[in-house]
Amino acid sequence: MRARITATGSYLPEKILTNFDLEKMVDTSDEWIRQRTGIEIRHIAEDEPTSELAAKAALDILKNSSLSASDVELIIVATVTPDQPLPATALFVQERIGAYNAFAFDINAACSGFIYALSIANAYILSGFVKNAIVIGAETLSKITDWTDRSTCVIFGDGAAGVLLEATDGDRGILSMVLHSDGRYTDLMRVPAPGSRIPCSKEAIENRDIYIKMKGNETFKMAIRSIASVSKEALDIAGMDFKDVDWMICHQANKRIIDGVARRVGLDEDKAIITIDRHANTAAASIPLAMDWALKTGKIKEGDIVLLNSFGASLTWSASVVRW
Ligand code: UT7
Repeated sequence: MRARITATGSYLPEKILTNFDLEKMVDTSDEWIRQRTGIEIRHIAEDEPTSELAAKAALDILKNSSLSASDVELIIVATVTPDQPLPATALFVQERIGAYNAFAFDINAACSGFIYALSIANAYILSGFVKNAIVIGAETLSKITDWTDRSTCVIFGDGAAGVLLEATDGDRGILSMVLHSDGRYTDLMRVPAPGSRIPCSKEAIENRDIYIKMKGNETFKMAIRSIASVSKEALDIAGMDFKDVDWMICHQANKRIIDGVARRVGLDEDKAIITIDRHANTAAASIPLAMDWALKTGKIKEGDIVLLNSFGASLTWSASVVRW
């Protein structure tokens, strides 16, 4: 038995922020952002919390599937921008879509969140615990972005997307999963407050501790090597090589990282799905957003071998091989 992705769905908030808009906010330029990141625009959630983005993605998934909300057995939302500390964002999604027969919870593995969540749903399905699961990556990173810090504010965006995973007897589905983390690097990317270390306070706000802090260049240097090596591990488990890969869906953090991974492993650049130009870095949402786009535009076809890989705060990295 395998777990197979049988439907995808996505939602992007209406408001678009261009590089030219950012030129008016911080000392940056469209040219710098395009050349150093590949980003042209990003979507920004205004009045919608993360659960609303996730619920709209979930409704799109259901619309593209043969299941109704009452058939769903599990909902996992991967996010670093939950609606509130408790309850879990996934419960707001459950209520909004009316999936009352499911159980629901959130996970946080930052930009690797989608693959981590997929691995949990995959394990539950393989063990027979559930027959299906909706797995969503959803973020409103604009809410934890320091809009005065040019080294971070130009790279993030908001959005949500996900998949329906179902038990299947065929040979299509998830072939391998590899997850890694290293707690020695928690200072590379973090949002220090509010939390149990630094509770909510006027001082935390004044110190701008409530926003993303990132050592971008150090993170960049580790990303290419880590993504390449975890991808090889996942392909080895599936008994495959990079030459077997039809499509690579990498976490969309920086176009130069994706190009660097493709070059390092000898993958044709055209096989890398690129959506960072119009979505920017949406953390846990970036891989399912790219996947949904690649399916809806007819790139990924039945039987294709799709390599998913990610790298994020801090540090988490992961890969999965899927026969579509
Ligand atoms: O999502 C998963 C985890 N995150 C990542 O994987 C992010 C990885 N990192 C990156 O994508 C890149 O490091 C960034 C896009 C964040 C930054 O690009 P970079 O090429 O690493 O720039 P840098 O930090 O080395 O800075 C180079 C220069 C500096 O100026 P000086 O000191 O050389 O004069 C920066 O001050 O670029 C300057 N700079 C900017 N200039 C214009 C930094 N940000 C900007 C900006 N506009 N927005």
